[in-house]
Parts: sequence; C-alpha cells; structure tokens
Amino acid sequence: MTEQRTSMHGQWTTRWVFVLAATGSAVGLGNIWKFPYITGENGGGAFVLIYLVCVAAIGIPIMMAEVMLGRRGRQSPINTMRVLAKESNKNPMWQFLGWSGMAAGFIIISYYSVIAGWALAYVFRAGVGVFEGATADGINSIFNDLVNDPERLLAWHTIFMVMTIAVVARRVKSGLEKAVCWLMPMLFILLLILVGYAWNSGDFSAGLKFLFEPDFSKLSQEGVLTAMGHAFFTLSLGMGAIMMYGSYLPAGTSIAKTSIMISIADTGVALLAGMAIFPLVFANGLEPGAGPGLIFKTLPLAFGHMDGGTLFGTLFFVLLVFAAWTSAISLIEPPVAWLVENKNVNRVWAAVVTGIGAWLLGVGTVLSFNKWSDVKWFDKTIFDLLDYLTANIMLPLGGFFIVLFAAWIMKREMSKDELAIENPKMFELWYFLVRYVTPIGVIAVFLKSIGVI
Ligand code: TRP
Repeated sequence: MTEQRTSMHGQWTTRWVFVLAATGSAVGLGNIWKFPYITGENGGGAFVLIYLVCVAAIGIPIMMAEVMLGRRGRQSPINTMRVLAKESNKNPMWQFLGWSGMAAGFIIISYYSVIAGWALAYVFRAGVGVFEGATADGINSIFNDLVNDPERLLAWHTIFMVMTIAVVARRVKSGLEKAVCWLMPMLFILLLILVGYAWNSGDFSAGLKFLFEPDFSKLSQEGVLTAMGHAFFTLSLGMGAIMMYGSYLPAGTSIAKTSIMISIADTGVALLAGMAIFPLVFANGLEPGAGPGLIFKTLPLAFGHMDGGTLFGTLFFVLLVFAAWTSAISLIEPPVAWLVENKNVNRVWAAVVTGIGAWLLGVGTVLSFNKWSDVKWFDKTIFDLLDYLTANIMLPLGGFFIVLFAAWIMKREMSKDELAIENPKMFELWYFLVRYVTPIGVIAVFLKSIGVI
C-alpha cells in the first residue's frame, strides 16, 4: 500500500531540520507583534483562553493533518491535493484548497513584509541609541514618524521582500537550518531577559492579571473569531505552508510528536512576549488596545532604561527580523514550488515573479498607515481588511476543508499508515478530533462570531 513518493524539490536531511524549519515558520511576527496587540484590543484573559483552546483542539490536529497530507503528496499544495483526491477516487476539485491557500499566503506575505520592515527600521533606531532615556511620548512619536512616511515604509518593505526572494530563490536549506538552530533559542533567551525586566520594573501583577484572568464580558463576538484566526495564523496553518514543509519530510518521522513540539514552542514564545509587554504597558499608563504599533511603543521603553539596553534592543530587533524572515519564506514557498512544478520555470524566476507581485500588493498596506488611512470598508483600513480576510476567514476555512479531507475523504487506513502513530489509542484520539471536534469547533466559532449561537 505504501507507495513512496519523493519531492522534486528535495528533502529535509533529518527530522530535526523539519522541526526547526516548521518552528521557524510558526514563530514570527504573529507571536511577538500580533499576539500582544490583538490581545490588548480584545480585552486580555478571555481572548487568550480561547486562543489556547483553539491551538490545542483545532491547531494541533490540523497541523498533523497538513503534515500528513504533504508527506503523502510530496508536491506543492495544489498538486498534492489533486494527487491525493485522485488516489481516493474523489473529485479533483479538492485542488481548489491549494489555490485558495496559495492566495491566502500571497496576501499575507504582502502585509507581513511591511510590518517586518518596521522591525528592520527599529534595528537601526535601537542600534544608534535613539531609545536611551526616552519617554513614552518620545517613543510614540518615533513610531508615528516612521509609519506616517510612506517612502520610508516602502523602502523597508522592499528590503525585506528582496531578502525573502533571495532565500527562496536559492533554497538554502542548510542556511535556514543554521539560522533557526541558533537564532530561535537566542530570541527565546532575549524574551526571558525582557520578562525579567518587566518583572522588576513593570507592573508585573497587572500584566499577568490582564493576560490570564478571563473576563468574558470584555470579549466581543468578533473577538472569538479573531482568537481562532490567530491560532491558525501563528501556527502557519490553513494555507498549505506546513503541508509544503511536510512534503519535504523524510518517511518514518513521528508527525504527532513534532506537531506538538512545534505548537508548544510557538505558544511559549507568544506568552513570553505578552508577559514582557503588558507589565510595561500598565506601569507606563499606556493603552493596551493601542493597535499594531503596540510592541514598537512599549519595548523601546524597556530598552531605553535597562542596562545594556542599546545592545539588547538591537539584538532583539535583529532576531525579530530573522523570525519574520523564516516565516515569510514559508508563506512564499507554495506558489514558488507550484510555478516550478507546473510552469517549467526555474526557482529564481519563480521567486522573483511571486515576490514582485506580493510587493506590489504590499504598497496598499504601506499607504493604509498614512495617505490612505481614511480609506475604509466596514470600518477597516486596507491593512486591517487584508489581515481580517486572511487570518479570520481564509485560513480557518482552508483548515476546515483540510481536516474534512483528511478525516472524511481520505481512507482511514491511508492516514493511519502515513501518520504511523505507535500507540493505537493516540491515533483514535486524533481521528476523533479531526472527524468531529475540529470541524465542529471551526463552524461553532464562525456561527458565534455572527451571533447565531
Ligand atoms: N506563523 C507566522 C507568524 O506567526 C506567519 C506565517 C508563516 C503564516 N507562514 C504562514 C501564517 C502560513 C499563516 C499561514 O508570524
């Protein structure tokens, strides 16, 4: 039964490379920039609780399904879904999942690159000591000066996109491996240092209370959807990025264990970021719901006042850029792999074309923070709209159909065979989760967000 395929794009050397690459994809701006600011906007504890439940009950089972489908199909998500549907004698329309995922990834990378550009800009601001002794007001205006200037944003956005294209064009698997191996643990340690600073100098108890004491009266209907959407976003699920990485995974690796490890590391980073930021927010009388600028308005305060702050600050933003870089690579990889497979072009060309397209779309996000900040639909700027559409709608829908496929379309023996979980009870648990709990959970959150339940 087990017919072995291999990917034309190569394979990870060991399962550790896969774990590192997938963790590199998962840990990024979502954890350090987005998680704190949407937690602040959505009232804290109750939002965090829903997010954690979604990671465990929806995220981990879907991650396992994605890795499994990818490893079985061994191609870009579109071709993987087509091959697997054929293998199960089902409608080739399932490949649509690959298309919508590719579209979601393309939209996400367009704005992701703009925000990563902010982090790049902050490397230099921290490096020359701009934050030393600065006040909250001063730091606020440093941020506003940056986002109000479309030319500067465009320049940083361009630099980040070129960095991403450069890596994807060359498939530097070993470069990625080294980067993630060293830089992720460093980022983790630096976050611990920041939490230590927040403990000493911030209002730590107020921060913890905000993060971990659920008050459901503060959580809106839409907030529930945002929490679930973020579980998808932060774990890189629902668009085929993890499926793509799974397609490079050597046979015989435990998909369950690796998925759980990746999810724990990812969640840990987000919670640490929250514990570093909110104590500073409350100690300095800042607004938790300050929006996308939150970390850029709070962390520089810590760097400006701690010993060695210029060094730590610079290092922090360098590592944040790296974290964003390893995530951006995974966002752009599915369309690049598809172009190489289907259009008979080389990787360099595929990466450049995809990158230029995403760069162009990113210009909309750049302008949404300044010249077009009044252009709104449903009270959302272009950036907010693209983020909402992808994270809250496209990723959960994509994830929903991915588990439907894995649980109801693909034959049970096939998934059992591919997952190769040693303990039969664990397989039963996964199968139960993906058949019932995960899809019903996604639907329930959708219904909740529109007020039906
Ligand atoms: N997970 C990344 C982050 O938290 C972003 C990301 C990378 C992503 N690849 C993805 C989000 C695929 C959704 C889908 O920063």
